Amino acid sequence: MLAMGSHEPVRYASSPVQTPMIELKNASKEYVKPSGEVHTVLRNIDLRIEKGEFCSIVGPSGCGKSTTLNLIAGFEETTGGKVHIMGEPLKGINPRAACVFQTDNTYPWKTVMDNVSLGLRLKGLKKGEAYREAKRWIERVGLKGFENHFPHQLSGGMRKRVALAQCLIVQPEILLMDESFSALDVHTRQLMEDELLNIWEETSASVVFITHDLEEAIALSDRVVVLTAGPGATVKGDYRINLPRPRNVAEIRFQPQFMSLHEQIWDDLRDEVMISYANANK
Ligand SMILES: Nc1ncnc2c1ncn2[C@@H]1O[C@H](COP(=O)(O)OP(=O)(O)OP(=O)(O)O)[C@@H](O)[C@H]1O
Ligand SMILES: [Mg+2]
Repeated sequence: MLAMGSHEPVRYASSPVQTPMIELKNASKEYVKPSGEVHTVLRNIDLRIEKGEFCSIVGPSGCGKSTTLNLIAGFEETTGGKVHIMGEPLKGINPRAACVFQTDNTYPWKTVMDNVSLGLRLKGLKKGEAYREAKRWIERVGLKGFENHFPHQLSGGMRKRVALAQCLIVQPEILLMDESFSALDVHTRQLMEDELLNIWEETSASVVFITHDLEEAIALSDRVVVLTAGPGATVKGDYRINLPRPRNVAEIRFQPQFMSLHEQIWDDLRDEVMISYANANK
């Protein structure tokens, strides 16, 4: 970590000693448009995320946040540079990762129990064993009594809990979350954020959390990474969030240290949002 004077942001440089869980090495992603023109989404991204680290990525809409997550999940391949997972180049789908997206991950034709136990069944566990473990996770996310409900019989917040349990039951080493809570009302969202932190603190999972909401990013994370406006987005700022844990996401926002971090990071982010807005209106 490098402190650069009282008004400078605290830039975070992770320890080079430990093998990072996730490493983007000079990673770029280009798409070829139907016209044949090359569209560079991400350019020369260098990013190390440690084991057990909670890292949020923020940036203007369309800059390439979801694309970054897709590279880590192995849903997309880099067109330049590499993605390494625990020091090994990633080939195909990342087996250590589980994803929670903005839209529902749940299968509408399966009950809560069958949705949550699915990951363990796919791993070959017997039904009884998978159900026992699923029951524990359903309780853990506050859905006891809803085991036999179908997703359409639940609220949006409850479905999100199912999605979280569905991911966490397989004890992923990497949890990838893309705007996972953004469709929820503010109170449900804060409950889910606190629940996520409680569960994460009991695991050593590395979390990559994509959000539009800078306050959410700071409240949850060990680190907030700001991407520049695209095309050719890259890392603009990398901030260590040294707020004490355990955290209450609703209350931590009123701490002076939180406000000061918000001001620093927003300084970076605002410029990129303005550039992105100007580009969109060209
Ligand atoms: N499969 C694809 N083919 C072509 N272009 C793509 C593809 N996927 C993404 N893009 C382009 O890559 C850019 C970044 O998209 P991405 O979804 O990563 O942005 P984002 O930062 O997640 O945006 P938002 O905040 O709105 O979710 C966009 O210009 C998008 O049009
Ligand atoms: Mg996105």
